[in-house]
Amino acid sequence: AMIGKGQYRHFMQKEIFEQPAVIGDTLHSFLNPATLSVQLPNLPFDLSKVSRFTFIACGTAFYAGMVAKYWFEQVARQPVEIDIASEFRYREAPMPDDGVSVYISQSGETIDTLAALKYAQSQDQKILSVVNVPESAIARSSDAVMPTQAGPEIGVASTKAFTTQLTVLACLAIATARARGAIDVARERELSAALTEVPARIAEVLNHDEAIREISHDISEARDVLYLGRGTLYPIAMEGALKLKEISYIHAEGYAAGEMKHGPIALIDEAVPIIACAPSGPLFEKTASNLQEVHARGGKIVLLSDKEGLARAGELAVHTVELPKIDPFVAPILYSIPIQLLAYHTAVLKGTDVDQPRNLAKSVTVE
Ligand code: G6P
Repeated sequence: AMIGKGQYRHFMQKEIFEQPAVIGDTLHSFLNPATLSVQLPNLPFDLSKVSRFTFIACGTAFYAGMVAKYWFEQVARQPVEIDIASEFRYREAPMPDDGVSVYISQSGETIDTLAALKYAQSQDQKILSVVNVPESAIARSSDAVMPTQAGPEIGVASTKAFTTQLTVLACLAIATARARGAIDVARERELSAALTEVPARIAEVLNHDEAIREISHDISEARDVLYLGRGTLYPIAMEGALKLKEISYIHAEGYAAGEMKHGPIALIDEAVPIIACAPSGPLFEKTASNLQEVHARGGKIVLLSDKEGLARAGELAVHTVELPKIDPFVAPILYSIPIQLLAYHTAVLKGTDVDQPRNLAKSVTVE
């Protein structure tokens, strides 16, 4: 059937607004809201005995894997390696006994990701894929599939596929943590409850659409934009920069906040907006002191944080967006929303072809 834009101006905008629903659908396929426990399909390997996970993907899907690396290490104490598919497929990396290799892809057809999968197969890895198209080549080549329930994604710049990938990977991290004895039942319930809350919290963030559109006026005039984050918000900073580049054609970089002083700080002046993804939590003070350094050099900060974070560092910013306070575990999912909206509105102001940006393809089936 033809998919329409409904009340929306672009597919990307529609897909951003669909996120509460599709994250809910994806969650319900892996998480029982009554018992707050994760229930995965039968996997052809023992989650308690995986020596190492290797996450491989391209583009936005790669950043989902990068968030997952933090989750698997912190929550499940599980060793993880991650790479982009175009590098991994030629690296000739040695792979461990009892390793599981995870392929993350919206289309399930990305040629580099598929080639990396074949390499891991040759190294006797079990193959698990997280795809949005269950009949895709990557899904068909896998030992097990955990599908995202995002529905068709038309906009070339990925939005709902990304947050549903994060949702699936969060469930897999919880199941791995439980299997490895890294968390108890109470902690599993806490993490599951935090995930269950995400759709409603995203709906709240979507109410800030107009405020974020206002901020995008400043962004649309910039030549360069820097995104900063720490921990699981570091991949979100990189995803924010990728979104902006893809659809507004403004040069942007995502950086680990603590690494800024090793290079990008040299770029900072009044003309470079700095988007900080900084929920309050264990790493907030560290990021706040990085923002202090930016502020001292005249950098114009857009601070995405919660009430507590804004009370502490809001005065450093020219614009703030207040997000709901949530468990730090799910912060990367929630903070994906304002960076998508910011890129979207900036692109609309610039008059670019939001759904079909120049030079990009939705599914990259040639090398
Ligand atoms: C293309 C798209 C990106 C996407 C990447 C990976 O470059 O423009 O939005 O993240 O491919 O696609 P996949 O279908 O494997 O997730």
